[in-house]
Order: sequence, then structure tokens, then C-alpha cells
Amino acid sequence: MAITAEIRVGADKLDLPVIVGSEGEVGIDIGTLRDKTGAITLDPGYGNTGAGESAITFLDGELGILRYRGYPIEQLAGSASFLEVSWLLLKGELPTAAELANLIAAERANRAVPDHVQAVLAACPQNTHPMAMLASCIVTLSSSHSDEDDAIAGLPANQLRLMAQLPVIAAYIYRRSQGLPLVPPDSERDYAANFLHMMFAGTGKQSDDVAIANAMDLLFILHADHEQNCSTSTVRLVGSSQADYFASVAAGVCALWGPLHGGANQAVVEMLDEIVHRGGKVDWVVAQAKDKASGFRLMGFGHRVYKNFDPRAKLIKVQADVVLDKLGKDDEQLDLAIGLEHAALADEYFVQRKLYPNVDFYSGIIYRAMGFPQEMFTVLFAIGRLPGWTAHWNEHNAGKARIGRPRQIYTGRNARDFVPLQAR
Ligand code: ACO
Repeated sequence: MAITAEIRVGADKLDLPVIVGSEGEVGIDIGTLRDKTGAITLDPGYGNTGAGESAITFLDGELGILRYRGYPIEQLAGSASFLEVSWLLLKGELPTAAELANLIAAERANRAVPDHVQAVLAACPQNTHPMAMLASCIVTLSSSHSDEDDAIAGLPANQLRLMAQLPVIAAYIYRRSQGLPLVPPDSERDYAANFLHMMFAGTGKQSDDVAIANAMDLLFILHADHEQNCSTSTVRLVGSSQADYFASVAAGVCALWGPLHGGANQAVVEMLDEIVHRGGKVDWVVAQAKDKASGFRLMGFGHRVYKNFDPRAKLIKVQADVVLDKLGKDDEQLDLAIGLEHAALADEYFVQRKLYPNVDFYSGIIYRAMGFPQEMFTVLFAIGRLPGWTAHWNEHNAGKARIGRPRQIYTGRNARDFVPLQAR
């Protein structure tokens, strides 16, 4: 039976069309609401607002389901590479063997970043946050990669180049911040292995272990897309003004930076450090998180959409064991995190609000064990999220997209006459 929606605003009654998605999600199309009734909807935080239709990622927060283009994240994480998943997100289908071989070769051949990126990095003060440097480098790439119509290996040239160069830029950011000599990309190594090599070669940290590179690749897959999250919505919104691709992605990087979004992985590790510093007891953190007056939140817990376990958190938790085991590390933080998870999940406050560990809860522990400093954690998230941002930018711009421009309910002063300076 077709679903219908009826809305009354004062004396006006309006029948509204209802859109049903391929997984049965229901959206009321309010496109005529203001014209017909003069009213708008009000939804701060957009918890009830669909920004549009999308065929890229499906997630069911109640059941803890995440699928890219229909494929469950658990299957992709177990069987595909990050480049394969990137192609899937961008093109809609898994690559054939020939398509994947072309993509791998093209990614390896396009890693060299333009010279001016070095100048941008050199101009940043030493203590600049890596996310600020990342956004700055990306936005300046628009000056050197302007051939928007070209394609490389079946992908828009700009997009393929950014995918190839983002890990290189990230490694440069890190090595500069440490005063280390830059390591050039190695075209014999695949995406994640080359990144670890460029980051850590000559530092005494693990730079060429296959299991660690596989874990890095998996972490990129788990971060690759998450439908209309804050940074992806930002990329779509900026792109809707027909700003160029690099500007849109740089805006996404800035949105990701915040501690309520991608910056949470850094905040989790800082929180765990603080617990260790205070003697290793988790009870006070749980108590503080429950106390609204403290303004403190349990970092890595809760999600706008997931009201059940974040499926990515489950996969990352398993990976944390693999990586720590491989590196021979007995991480006090991992034990603490597990203890904190148990304490929170047994607490009525978290149970009632359906607050579960999210993707950021365990990822920082792995990154730290691998040797990444905390400030780089969100950069790793950005590398993983790039194919998702790009797929959404393409989808939005390919459709009949209007410029994104929310309305508001004005609550300020009514009209009044200007008061000359001498009369105030
Ligand atoms: N610790 C304590 N209380 C929390 C937490 C938390 N981490 N998260 C939500 N709550 C509480 C809220 O205070 C609120 O309580 P109330 O109903 O008594 O007022 C209730 O749970 C609902 O919270 P909202 O703020 O409405 O949830 P929202 O969907 O707006 O926020 C968010 C989601 C930002 C992720 C939130 O859970 C949070 O701040 N978590 C910590 C930061 C974090 O881990 N961010 C990473 C998210 S995943 C990602 O972006 C990759």
C-alpha cells in the first residue's frame, strides 16, 4: 500500500509525496511546503532531514548495518583492498581484474606532488596542526590540476591524482614536523605499504611489515564512506556552489577535524592518557560523562545514527589485537579501553541513550601502536574518507543539484530606525 503524508499548517492542508528508498526508508518530500503554506521545517542538527537521495552507502543505525554500494562492510573488510573499495564507491561496481590493474598502476604513477606543496608546508609554522596543513595543501592543488575533463584509468584525472597524492602529502607533513628528511614515494609498494614506508623509513618504527600494511589498508576501508556525515555533507554543500573539487575536499577536511567528528580518535587517546595519569580508574570518567554540568563526553562513544554497535568498531577492535600482537606491544590503553567499554555498557545512562563505542574508540590505539603521533590520527581518517567524499561530490554534481541553502526562523529584533552615532 502506498504511503502518504498529510500536513496541516493552520487552516492549510497539504498532501505530500512520500519517497521510499531501496531499503524501505521513508522520506516525506516537503518541496512544496513553503510555497503552499508559508511554513518551513525546523531541524537543528538535521537529525530528521534527508539532504537528498543517494545510491552510495546504506546504513541502518538500529541494526548496526553498513554497506557500500550494497556490499556489507564485513565482507569488503575481509576480502577487498582499499583501492578496490575506492573504485566501488566511485564507479558503483567492483572493478574487473583489468580495471583494478590499471587503477593500481595509475595510482603508483601519479604520486608525485607538485613542487609548490613543499612551499606551502614550509610556510606553515612548525606547530601548525596537520589537518590545517592538509587542507591548505589540498586547496592549492586546484592551481596545478585543472584539467577537469581528463581521465586516468577510468577516473577523473584530478580525483585519481588526489587519491595518489594524499598519503604522500600526509607523510611529508609528518616528516617535516619531526625535522626528518622526506622519503620519496616508492612505486614498487602498494597504497598503504608506500604510505607507511614514506612515514617511518629510517625512524626505527615498523615501515615495511606486510601485516601492518594490511591493517592500515583495512582501516582506510572502514573509514571510506559513511553517507551524509558532517564532512561529507560539507563536501556536498560546498560543491553545490560549483566550487571546484579540491576546494570542496579541503572543506571536508576542515569539517572532519573537529573532536565531535574525525577528531574524536585523537580525543579518545588523550582521554585514555588522562585516565592512566589519574591512576587507571575508569569510574570517574563514566561519572563525569554522565554529569551534564561537566561539559565532558565519553569520547569515542555515541553516534548520531548508530543506536547499536558501530560495525566498524567491532572490526577495529579485532584489528587492535592483531596489530598489538604483531608489534609485540602490551598496550595499557587497550586494556583500559576494554574496561571503559564494559563499564559504560553496563551503566544505565549509556544503555538508555543507546550509546555504544564508535569507529574512533579503538582506532587511535592502533594508530599509536603503529607509531603515529596523536595529531596525525585525523589525517589518517581523511585519507580513508577521500573516496567517499569524492563519490558524493560526483553524485551531487551529476544530479539536478540546486545550491544548498537552508532557511531559518528569524528570532532577532523587528525593524527599527538607525540611530546616529552621537545619539547612542
Ligand atoms: N558521552 C556522554 N553522553 C553522551 C555522549 C557521550 N559520548 N554522546 C551523547 N551523549 C548524550 C547526550 O548528552 C544526550 O543526553 P540527553 O538526552 O540527556 O540530553 C544524549 O546522549 C543524546 O546525545 P546527542 O547530543 O543528541 O547526540 P548527537 O547525535 O547530537 O551526537 C555525537 C552524536 C556527536 C557523536 C555524540 O555522541 C558525541 O559527542 N560523542 C563523543 C564524540 C565522538 O566520539 N565523536 C565521533 C563520532 S563518529 C564520527 O564522527 C566518525
